[in-house]
Amino acid sequence: VLVPAFGLVVSGLVAFASGQDVDTVGKVAFVNRMQAPPLAPSHIDGEGRRVFDLTVRKGRREFVAGRPSPTWGVNGGYLGPTLRARRGEKVQVNVTNQVGETTTLHWHGMHVPAAMDGGPHQMVEPGRTWSPKWTVDQPAATLWYHPHLHGRTAQHVYRGVSGMFLVDDGETAGLPARYGVDDVPVIVQDRRFHHGRLEMSEDMAGTTGFLGDELLVNGVRGPYLEVTTERIRLRLLNGSNARIYNFRFADGRRFQQVGSDGGLLPAPYTTDRVQLSPGERAEIVVTVKPGERAVLRSEKPATGSGFVQRDGGSDRFDVLQLRAAPTLAASPAVPAKLADVPRIPEKEAVRTRTFELAEHRINGRTMDMGRIDAEVRKGTTEIWDVRSGDGTLHNFHVHDVQFQVLSVNGDPPPPGLAGWKDTVLLTPGTRMRLIMRFADHADPNVPYMFHCHLLYHEDMGMMGQFLVLEPGQKAGRPPAPEAQE
Ligand code: C2O
Ligand code: CU
Repeated sequence: VLVPAFGLVVSGLVAFASGQDVDTVGKVAFVNRMQAPPLAPSHIDGEGRRVFDLTVRKGRREFVAGRPSPTWGVNGGYLGPTLRARRGEKVQVNVTNQVGETTTLHWHGMHVPAAMDGGPHQMVEPGRTWSPKWTVDQPAATLWYHPHLHGRTAQHVYRGVSGMFLVDDGETAGLPARYGVDDVPVIVQDRRFHHGRLEMSEDMAGTTGFLGDELLVNGVRGPYLEVTTERIRLRLLNGSNARIYNFRFADGRRFQQVGSDGGLLPAPYTTDRVQLSPGERAEIVVTVKPGERAVLRSEKPATGSGFVQRDGGSDRFDVLQLRAAPTLAASPAVPAKLADVPRIPEKEAVRTRTFELAEHRINGRTMDMGRIDAEVRKGTTEIWDVRSGDGTLHNFHVHDVQFQVLSVNGDPPPPGLAGWKDTVLLTPGTRMRLIMRFADHADPNVPYMFHCHLLYHEDMGMMGQFLVLEPGQKAGRPPAPEAQE
C-alpha cells in the first residue's frame, strides 16, 4: 500500500523558520519505499560503442501524494537513471536539452577528454543534442553526473538534474553487486518544502549556500529501503548543494567503508561513521539481522573534528531506514583486500601548486571562462596544496583526474581517504596535499575545471581552469564559450 503521507511532522519546519538547528531525528515517518534509480538503457552502435540517450527535461513529482511539484529531471521527473559502463568500453551519451534554457551535463569523477567533460564550456542550447564520446579508462567506481553551467549550477542541480554513473572493471571484488538488490545507490539531498511542494527559490545564497530542512534520498521523502540479504552495499553520494553529512547509524553499529570517490579502497575500513561533503561518494557495506530496522542518520560532527558549518553545523537528520526481511539471503564476507591502489610516489611530482579558497575566490581570483589559471603538461605528476583561507568550509574538486591525498596537515590520510578521490572537504585550518597524474587528454583549447563543490560558492566564481598540454605545446586562444553545432 502506498501511504500518502508527509514524511515529517511539522516541528522540524517550525524549528527551521525560527532559526534554530534543524533536528529531524525521531521525527521522520519512513513511509515511502525507496529503490535504486533505474538503469539507463543503452545499445551498442555499429562501431561497438555503448550509446545512452538522456533528455534533460522539465517534469513534476509528487514528493507528497496529491501535491505535485514542478521539477527538472533526466528521462523522468526528478533525478536521472544510472549509467553503467565497463572499463575499456567506448561510450557515447546523447544529451538532449528540453528544459528551455541552456545547461550542461558533466561526468563528475570521469577521466574524460576536456571537450567531452560537460563543464561550463560544453553548453547545450535549448532543443539541441550534445553527443560526447570517450573510452572509459579507470577503475570500477561510483561516479555521477550533474549540470555545470557557470553561475547556474546550484539551480539546475537543486531542481533535480543529477544521477549516478557506475564504472565496472569486470570484477566485483567479492562485494555485493546485484544492482537494486544488495548494491544500491543512495543519493542524499537536502531540500525545502512548502505545504508539501518543493520550494523553488532563486535564492541559493547564505554563507555556505542553500541548506534545506528535509532530506530526499533518491528523490524520495521519508524513505525506507527493503533489504533481503545479510549484507548490503550502499553507494552514498552527497548530491546536496552545500550540506555536509556526517553519516552514522542510530544504534551506532559499525560498517565497512569499501570505496571512496574514484574506486575501491585498498582494504575495507571498519568504522561507525563517514563524512561526505557535496560531490563526494563513499561505498559502505552494512550487515543487518533478519527483521530488524536500522536508521541511517546524519549527526553533528564529533567535537574536536575541526568541523564548522556556520549555517547548519548542528543540524541532525534521519536519512534512511533499512528494513530487513524476516529471512535474509546469505552474503559472502567482505574480502580483506579490495583493490590495488598503488601510491603515487611524491618524488614523481614535477611541481607543487598552491590553492587558497577564500571569499568566493581561488588564489584571489574569481572564475573567468576566458582565463587559464594553470597549464599542466601531459604525462606529468603534480602536487596541489589546497586549503580554506577564510575560516569557513569549502571543498575542492578537480576534473579529469582521480588524485591521492598525500597528507592532511602533515599527517598521512585517514583510511577513508586512502583511495582515489576527486573531491575533498576543506575545514578551516586544514591543509591537504593532493597528488595527481595528468596522463593524457591534452587539448590546447579546452580547459578543465577545479573548484569548490559547494554550488553557491562555485556559481559565485570559486572556480578556476586548467589546460593539459602536450610537451612543448602552447595554449590556444583564450577559450570562449563554445557554440553548439
Ligand atoms: Cu561535480 Cu566540476 O563538478
Ligand atoms: Cu566553498
